[in-house]
Amino acid sequence: MEFRKLIESRHSVREFKPEQVDETKLKRILEAANSAPSAGNLQAYEILVVKDEGKRKALSEACMGQEFIAQAPLALLFFANPERSARKYGERGKTLYCILDAAIAASYAQLAIADEGLSTVWVGALNDEEIKKITNAPAHLVPVGLLPVGKADEKPESHARRELFDLVKHEQF
Ligand SMILES: Cc1cc2nc3c(=O)[nH]c(=O)nc-3n(C[C@H](O)[C@H](O)[C@H](O)COP(=O)(O)O)c2cc1C
Repeated sequence: MEFRKLIESRHSVREFKPEQVDETKLKRILEAANSAPSAGNLQAYEILVVKDEGKRKALSEACMGQEFIAQAPLALLFFANPERSARKYGERGKTLYCILDAAIAASYAQLAIADEGLSTVWVGALNDEEIKKITNAPAHLVPVGLLPVGKADEKPESHARRELFDLVKHEQF
């Protein structure tokens, strides 16, 4: 899809059809995430693909009971890997760059999902400890975001944004 059309047509979706996500599409989505920039090209994040129904239900409960997570046939979980970034960047890598790396990769995935004609919503309301238990994640990883993925079963609304004059300052605050 043409880039401007893509960013204008992407909206958060919270109602999904049960149809499975095609493996070719999933691969292209993961490749898009993998092409995201990262600090020092270290890619200080991990991606977990979850299809299992029981796990999706448990994840939904670990995300404040947001039921659409169990409804979508697939969930992509993005974890920051502080150790990987700290090796080169110390404290800044540990507390900032790894989170940004994971978030940027998830953003790329979000756009790729829209480009594949699928839908998602960024879920950030995560109970970190519960998520780590359910996924058997290594202790040092930090859950950053979850993307439920599937075909939309609703027509999403578009949400107004701040005006540029309010958001953008020139030269100084
Ligand atoms: C960091 C972050 C956390 C979010 N957490 C949630 C969430 O837990 N549940 C949810 O339904 N939406 C969540 N959202 C989605 C936002 O509500 C949504 O992106 C915003 O309202 C703008 O709508 P749009 O994505 O359709 O443009 C989150 C988005 C971001 C970026």
